[in-house]
Amino acid sequence: MFTKNELRLAYALAVCLSIVGAISYAAFIPEAPEQPLRLMFKVAAGNVLFDHKTHESVSGYGISCRDCHHELEEDDGEEAQACGECHDPAEGDEEVPKRGDAFHRQCTGCHEEFEAGPTESECAKCHVI
Ligand code: HEC
Ligand code: HEC
Ligand code: HEC
Ligand code: HEC
Repeated sequence: MFTKNELRLAYALAVCLSIVGAISYAAFIPEAPEQPLRLMFKVAAGNVLFDHKTHESVSGYGISCRDCHHELEEDDGEEAQACGECHDPAEGDEEVPKRGDAFHRQCTGCHEEFEAGPTESECAKCHVI
């Protein structure tokens, strides 16, 4: 017969091993390109909730990655960078707009083109929370 303590030890070991197993298994699954589902931009004027998945997925608006991630050579999700990597929050010009202007121009520019989604004057439809 096993003592209570021996059983406990065996049980604890089994739990440990299954955790190790799960971690190793996860490490060998080919990594899907990481894409955000929804993003929240914190702005004093009101936070903006951006539904990344709906904008990008075929069952949503089906917009291709490069229409927004204009730095990409091809639709390679892993290469997509945050806009602020290149668009400075404080400084910009007509050609390379500062971060806030880059967002406004891209978001509202496309909405105006599609005649769908919040346009430039509809601040409160984006800055909601
Ligand atoms: C409608 C515009 C739009 C489309 C389409 C889009 N994205 Fe994005 N994506 C964004 C915005 C905006 C961000 C937030 C960038 C930031 O935080 O500065 C973002 C963030 C990301 C990030 C995180 C980058 C980081 O380092 O913070 C990845 C990865 C990404 N997108 C991949 C993709 C992939 C892959 C596709 C296509 C399947 C795609 N995106 C389609 C607008 C878009
Ligand atoms: C790797 C650097 C880099 C990243 C990342 C980047 N940009 Fe840019 N962006 C530039 C440069 C350089 C220009 C000016 C030349 C050009 O148009 O490519 C520019 C120009 C722009 C313009 C003005 C031209 C136009 O098309 O109207 C907008 C708007 C813009 N970016 C928005 C964004 C947004 C939004 C993101 C994030 C989803 C982003 N950019 C990510 C480098 C970058
Ligand atoms: C390349 C085109 C494109 C870009 C860039 C784009 N959108 Fe949109 N957006 C759309 C389309 C198309 C719709 C669909 C509207 C509809 O079907 O009524 C939409 C709808 C929306 C809506 C209303 C519905 C919803 O999903 O909540 C919001 C809010 C929105 N977009 C926010 C943003 C923000 C914030 C950005 C920039 C970070 C952005 N969009 C960039 C094309 C775009
Ligand atoms: C299509 C969605 C959308 C609309 C419409 C919109 N914004 Fe924004 N706004 C954003 C996003 C996305 C950001 C970027 C947040 C960040 O920098 O993290 C932003 C950033 C800002 C910022 C901080 C950055 C900066 O440029 O100083 C202010 C202030 C702002 N918006 C005010 C406004 C006002 C005022 C209006 C209406 C005239 C407006 N926004 C309309 C999406 C929108």
